[in-house]
Parts: sequence; C-alpha cells; structure tokens
Amino acid sequence: MNIRFLLNGAPLAIAVAPTVTLLDWLREARGLTGTKEGCNEGDCGACSVMVTDADGSKALNACILFMGQLDGKAVRTVEGISGPDGALHPVQHAMIEHHGSQCGFCTPGFVVTMATAHLNGRTDHDDQLAGNLCRCTGYAPIVRAARAAASEPVPEWMRKDADMLRDPAIFASEICRGEAEGRGAEPPFLPATADELAAWYLANPQATLIAGATDVGLWVTKGLRDLHPIAFLNQCDDLRGIVADSDTIHIGAITTLTELGAFMADRHRDLAALIRRYGSVQVRNAATLGGNIANGSPIGDSPPALIALGATVHLRKGDARRALPLEDFFLAYGKQDRTPGEFVAAISVPVQPDTLRCYKLSKRFDQDISAVCGAFNIAVEDGTVTGARIAFGGMAGTPKRATAVEAALLGQPWTEATVRAAMAAFATDYQPLSDMRASAEYRLTAARNLLLRCFHDSAGVETNVLGVSA
Ligand SMILES: Cc1cc2nc3c(=O)[nH]c(=O)nc-3n(C[C@H](O)[C@H](O)[C@H](O)COP(=O)(O)OP(=O)(O)OC[C@H]3O[C@@H](n4cnc5c(N)ncnc54)[C@H](O)[C@@H]3O)c2cc1C
Ligand code: FES
Ligand code: FES
Repeated sequence: MNIRFLLNGAPLAIAVAPTVTLLDWLREARGLTGTKEGCNEGDCGACSVMVTDADGSKALNACILFMGQLDGKAVRTVEGISGPDGALHPVQHAMIEHHGSQCGFCTPGFVVTMATAHLNGRTDHDDQLAGNLCRCTGYAPIVRAARAAASEPVPEWMRKDADMLRDPAIFASEICRGEAEGRGAEPPFLPATADELAAWYLANPQATLIAGATDVGLWVTKGLRDLHPIAFLNQCDDLRGIVADSDTIHIGAITTLTELGAFMADRHRDLAALIRRYGSVQVRNAATLGGNIANGSPIGDSPPALIALGATVHLRKGDARRALPLEDFFLAYGKQDRTPGEFVAAISVPVQPDTLRCYKLSKRFDQDISAVCGAFNIAVEDGTVTGARIAFGGMAGTPKRATAVEAALLGQPWTEATVRAAMAAFATDYQPLSDMRASAEYRLTAARNLLLRCFHDSAGVETNVLGVSA
C-alpha cells in the first residue's frame, strides 16, 4: 500500500506492506535504530514513539503498530526529540542530570514517553511511565528526571510543530509534500465511514478487521501470521467518539480506552480507575473498546464493568443492525454472537447514578492482565438492596454475570450478614479454572471477598491498596 505521513517532521510517501510494524520499518528500512525492540509485544515500551494527528500527540508502542495505521499521521522517534539545532529536549537534559540511564536500552523509549507526557502537560509520572520497563537504573531517578523536566517549558519548535499538526488543513498539506518512493503492495481496505466498512465486510466476511492492533499486532509479531484481506478501522470517524444524552451514553467501537477513561472520570469513577490499570498509556492510546469486546476474551477488563452497567452492544452487517445485552454477546469460550461480515459498531450504556465498583486483581499493579476482575452495581434504597448487577472476568470461559449472587442480595437488607450469606452463591455462578494466573480456589475466594470489599467500600471504609496505609 502507499501511505503518506511525517517522520520526524519530514513528509514521506512510501510503498509498504500494510502489516509491517513501524518498529521493523524504522530499524530495517530507515536505519533509525534508536527505537529499540525489547519484548515485541507491547509490554516494555522500549519501542515507544510519539504519534500526532488532529486529536493530539500520543505515545504508542511501535512494535504493535502497523504501517497501515499511520497513513495521515506524524511520527516522532527518539532521533527527532532534540531541537533542529541539536539542543537537548528538557527530558533528555533531566535524564542526564538525574542519572536516569545505566545500560541505556530502555532510555530512548523513556525519553519519547516522557517528552510526549511533557508536551501534553501530564505530571502523573507514575502512570505515564508505567508502560516503560527499566531493568537496571531503577525508577526513582527516572521519575525524578520527569519531575524536574515538568517545570521546563515545551521547546518552542515542538510546541509549534504540535500546534501545526492539530490543524487538519495544514497537516494534510504538509503530508502531501512527500514524494512517493515506490509502487504499493496490495492495499488493505481503509474505510472512511461505517457504511463503507459494512458494504466491504459483507463482501469479504473472511477478512480481519484491525482497530488498535493491540491483539492483532501480536498475531503478526508472535504468531507470524500473514493476514489477508484486512481492513483498518482507524479512519472510520463515525465509529469513534462518545455522545451522551440524558438517557444513554453511546460509545463508538473505535473509541480508545484512553478516551473512555477520560470520559468516565466524572461519571463512573471506578470504571475510570479500572481503565488506568488497563495495560499502559501506550496500550490504552491504541486499544479500542470495540476490540476489547469483539475479541471475546474471558479476561478483558471492560466487559464486566459494562455488563454491570447494563450495556448494550450494537452490531452491524451490511445495512442490517441489531442490538443485544452485552452479556448475551459472549456465548462460550472463543464464541461470540457475531456472524461473518458482522462488526461491533458501538456500545451503549444507560445513564444512571454512579453505584459501580470495579476491582481488578492481577499479579502486578501496572501493566498486567487480570486474574479476576469483578464489577458490582448495587442499588440500595432505605437500607434494602433494590438493584444488583454483578459481573466477573476470569471466572468462566466468558465475562459472566453472577445471577445467583444477585438473587441472594435483591430485596435483602444491605448488611454484612446479607453479604456473607450471599458469598456462598458464587459457587453456583462460577466454576473457575486454574491456570498460570491463579488457581480455581483463589479465584472463587477472591470473588467472594470482593463482594465483602464492595460492602465495606459502600460504607466509606478505605479498601484501595493505594489508599490503605499501616
Ligand atoms: C501489553 C498489553 C497489555 C494489555 N493489557 C490489557 C488489559 O490490562 N486489559 C485488557 O482487557 N486487555 C489488555 N490487553 C489486550 C488488548 O489491548 C485489548 O483486548 C484491546 O482492547 C483490543 O483492542 P484493539 O483495538 O487493539 O483490537 P485489535 O487488536 O485491533 O482487534 C482485536 C480483535 O477484535 C476484532 N475487532 C476489532 N474491532 C472490531 C470491531 N469494531 N468489530 C468486530 N471485530 C473487531 C479484530 O478483528 C480482532 O479479532 C493488552 C494487550 C497488550 C498488548
Ligand atoms: S518492544 Fe516492548 S513494547 Fe515494543
Ligand atoms: S537503563 Fe538499563 S534497562 Fe533501563
């Protein structure tokens, strides 16, 4: 395919196979070896690059970013972080001053992530850097460097560059200056609208849809799969974004987890806090809600919370549209209620008071997949449980509601005695498996205890590990 983009400010038009990763292309085709390969699966951040479009600048992992996703965007690698006159960026200077680098392998990735956070005015350094692993320096000097750089202004050239790139007209004209370097390989389908996607997917139902590529990227880098035909969804603007009225929150399928987390911060705070534990900044900037649902993972983090909120999934096949409760979409392990040629167009959530509590249990706090993820939406009026929607990931072959536990709570006084009695019903709802993340016994015990935690939380007792102190 032929794509046009800006690389460290220079317009390029190139012919490239669509599922070549940016990391491979930078290192092998351009000799830009500052961007490192660590894990090649989105886990370590050594390959972090800054990608800018009209929506702003984001840190992304180049190892699971396909060239086909870059058409019309601007990429800045570690080679393009210092000024045109060679002046170090404030984060580079601070990394030197604060001894933030030893072997240096992780350093380019840190520098790019830090420069992106600096440009965006982010000072939540622990969160911003959670997707970058360092094996030898230790994080304290790196975070000290990030803190020190935060008080320095964004370099004038970078500010101007970013502002220019946010103007769609200037952006397009800059990108169009590039000269094509060759003739393209077989192009993927790059729909601009949901209508175009619907018509094409109906005619090509065996195709692979690629949204953020945080799953599909690994099929290529680790599974060595040759994907064909493919469609990239990232230019379908009418599948992106969140619209809310007084009744419903409508979330387009290609809305990223970063966008969803920001939106939910003052609607369902626990969901926003859960999303902050989802992968890393780089993963959340790419991963879409539609991808997290369509992949049918039993340990996807968004489905339990959305099921507890009573979400509906909106599917489309050609001109036919249907909607079903999200819990009914997950039929069995690896099997969803989605026919060939049908795609996830949106998720909707009823507007409601915020009684949602979400708990993610994983071996690491940051950047880890859930062993168990529980979501509780329990309404209490005059001390009595009047509504209960509870759902879990990691407890069955699909994300699944705890209907027996819900029944044991409904109509009962919201007391510790009721909760302790209802805990037994988890064994009716779930017969979890043992695997490398957790044993069946751990999962069942943890699920029961999370209901108790939810009860204490609702009474204002601090149960968050970040809030509890000795
Ligand atoms: C390092 C790392 C950390 C991760 N951490 C977490 C985590 O903490 N929690 C978690 O839940 N997940 C996590 N994931 C998994 C992944 O990020 C999510 O599942 C993500 O939401 C997938 O979205 P995507 O847009 O990247 O999907 P893609 O990779 O583009 O697609 C995933 C699947 O969905 C299909 N698809 C995508 N969009 C649609 C659509 N609109 N309609 C129909 N089919 C579609 C694709 O064809 C593919 O089968 C992690 C992944 C990585 C690499
Ligand atoms: S190489 Fe580890 S995240 Fe890309
Ligand atoms: S400096 Fe060696 S891995 Fe970070």
